[in-house]
Amino acid sequence: MHVTRLSIRDLRRLAEVDVTPGPALNLLVGGNGAGKTSVLEALHLMAYGRSFRGRVRDGLIRTGAAALEVYVEWSERPQPRERRAGLRHGGQSWQGRVDGQPVAQLGDLCAALAVVSFEPGSHALVSGGGEPRRRFVDWGLFHVEPKFLALWRRYGRALKQRNALLKSGAPTDQLDVWDRELALAGEPLTRFREDYLERLQPVLAATVARIAPMLGTATLAYQPGWRRGELGLEDALLLSRERDRLLGHTGVGPHRADWRVDFASAPNREPLSRGQSKLAALACLLAQASDYAARRGEWPVMLFDDLASELDAGHRQRVLSLLREGEAQVFVTATDWPAGMEAAGSDLRLFHVEQGVLTPA
Ligand SMILES: Nc1ncnc2c1ncn2[C@@H]1O[C@H](COP(=O)(O)OP(=O)(O)O)[C@@H](O)[C@H]1O
Ligand SMILES: [Mg+2]
Repeated sequence: MHVTRLSIRDLRRLAEVDVTPGPALNLLVGGNGAGKTSVLEALHLMAYGRSFRGRVRDGLIRTGAAALEVYVEWSERPQPRERRAGLRHGGQSWQGRVDGQPVAQLGDLCAALAVVSFEPGSHALVSGGGEPRRRFVDWGLFHVEPKFLALWRRYGRALKQRNALLKSGAPTDQLDVWDRELALAGEPLTRFREDYLERLQPVLAATVARIAPMLGTATLAYQPGWRRGELGLEDALLLSRERDRLLGHTGVGPHRADWRVDFASAPNREPLSRGQSKLAALACLLAQASDYAARRGEWPVMLFDDLASELDAGHRQRVLSLLREGEAQVFVTATDWPAGMEAAGSDLRLFHVEQGVLTPA
């Protein structure tokens, strides 16, 4: 997947950007506050319907502007196809279009463009709360399992209903109906997630061996969100019903699922250092992208914000050569020309970023 055109309007300090990225490595160099991260943020927005740093109301729209807009054109393989998508936020809600058609739900937009981002907050994937980890697994499934999105939505709707009924003190028979519905969606959803992590495991092991061998063998373990070894989801929901009534929400189920990654280098589950967490998160993201490539026939677009401050030159080089072999399109931001970029060879396209303006070098 290669972005062939990126236009941004009124996102943070970027008033108007219109660039033609190269198919391989794109390096965005500029001083602090120049707007580099915001360019990656635009691509991330298109692919996830959310930013990796903060909500819309925390200043995503440029000060003084009424709306932000992102427009992306990209080409897909292995069946060659040119695609385009637009995204707009006018302060109230998102509006999206894919290939000329308005999308009913942002999820439809997110299913179109595949982007994997590694940025300074990415270590949260291994060291933070469960939400980014659930999103990680679901992203992998959205893109490779056509049936997953419908299940995921069905589960989300049922959960909302059950929570509303719990809050309103609804009678038992009404809750029975929604427990059943949650189980009908949640059980297969859980199997999808479990299978996904199982499939990812060898890919992750190979990725760690290649980019961060000092971490040792990686193992992934899925926690379904209820005592699945003992109970079906419907029974688990019934058992927790009284407690859920008191809490006013559903305390068990796939929305509480999590997974963990353990490394042979930390056999007693010693916490990873911050640097190790970053490498571990990076390995997970690369493994996910690599699995995507194996299933879809091409790599997602890869974003690396502030790569030089996140990784030393040796790791940078290993990551970039891995991506080059996969012929992935890569966007890297840096304040200075970072060492290790030689791995990109002659395919590098350089952009200078200054006061919100991108200039191809
Ligand atoms: N809503 C906004 N309107 C105008 N400028 C903004 C807005 N939000 C952030 N900025 C400015 O954008 C710059 C940050 O851009 P960023 O993409 O993080 O730069 P870089 O990654 O190059 O350091 C800062 O100068 C900040 O003041
Ligand atoms: Mg930045």
